[in-house]
Amino acid sequence: MTQGSKMVESIIRQAAKKIIGANNVVALTGAGISVESGIPPFRGKGGLWAKIDPVEVAHIDAFLENPAKVWRLLIRDMGRLLVSAAPNDAHHGLAELEKVGCMATVITQNVDGLHQAAGSRRVIEFHGTFATVSCLQCHLQQPIKNCLTADMPPRCDCGGVLRPDCVFFGEMIPTAAFHAAQAVAAACDVMLVIGTSATVEPAAHMSVMAKQNRAVIIEINLESTPLSDSISDYMIKGPAGESMRQLTAAVDQMRAAGP
Ligand code: APR
Repeated sequence: MTQGSKMVESIIRQAAKKIIGANNVVALTGAGISVESGIPPFRGKGGLWAKIDPVEVAHIDAFLENPAKVWRLLIRDMGRLLVSAAPNDAHHGLAELEKVGCMATVITQNVDGLHQAAGSRRVIEFHGTFATVSCLQCHLQQPIKNCLTADMPPRCDCGGVLRPDCVFFGEMIPTAAFHAAQAVAAACDVMLVIGTSATVEPAAHMSVMAKQNRAVIIEINLESTPLSDSISDYMIKGPAGESMRQLTAAVDQMRAAGP
C-alpha cells in the first residue's frame, strides 16, 4: 500500500518531533541507503544475490578456497564501484543531524564508507569495510585502491593473498564493533532504521535491543520489512534520500521555531 503525501508529511512531522525530543538518537543503516549512490542492494529489486550466489562469493570458506574467483566475481567490481561512489542526501541528512546534536551514532551494515564521506564522525562499521585490504600472511593493511588493477588474487609484497577488511558470511562480527553497537542500541531512545531488509543477524537484532529499551523506532524503506508490523512505531515508505531530505527539513524547521 503506498502512502499518500499528506500521510507521509504527517508521519515525517511526528518523527521529527520524536527526534528533537530525544536524548540519544541512533541510526541503523543497510544497503538501501546507498542505492541512490549507485550501489546495488543485496536483496529485493536489483539485488546482487539474485545474480551471484552469496555462498559462492561472500562466504569466508569460498574466499579461502579460491580467492582469485571471489576477487574476480565480487570484490574487484564492488571495489571499483565503492571507491568512485559519492554519498547521497540520506547520508548527508544523518551527518547534518549529528552536526546539530540530534544524532549520536550510526551503526552501518555497509562497507562503502559513505557515512564518513558525508561527514558523520561516529560510525560503527558492523560488517567492516571495503576501503582497505589486509594480507592473510603478514596482516599488513593497505587501501583497496592499490589492488583493483592487479592480477587476481592481489598479493602483498610478502607474497600473501590480500583480503578485503569486510566481514564475510561465516565470520564473527568484530568484537569491538559488536559491543559498541550493542551499547548504543541498548541506550538509545530513538532509532532510525534506514534501508535494511532486517533479515541478517546479529545486525537486525540491534533494532530489537533498542525496542527493549523502549526506544521509538522510525523506519525508512521503499517497502515493508519484518520490522514494519512488529517493532516500528513510524514507517516512512519511500526512497531514503527524499525521506531524509524531508525529515531533516522538518527537524530544522521545528528547531528554528523553538519549543
Ligand atoms: N531507499 C530506501 N530503502 C531502499 C532503497 C532506497 N532507495 N532501495 C532499496 N531499499 C531497501 C530494500 O527494500 C531492502 O529492504 O533496502 C533494503 C536492502 O536490503 P538488503 O539488500 O538485504 O541489505 P541489508 O539489509 O543491508 O543486508 C544486510 O546482508 O548480504 C549481507 O553483508 C551484507 O550488510 C549486508 C547484510
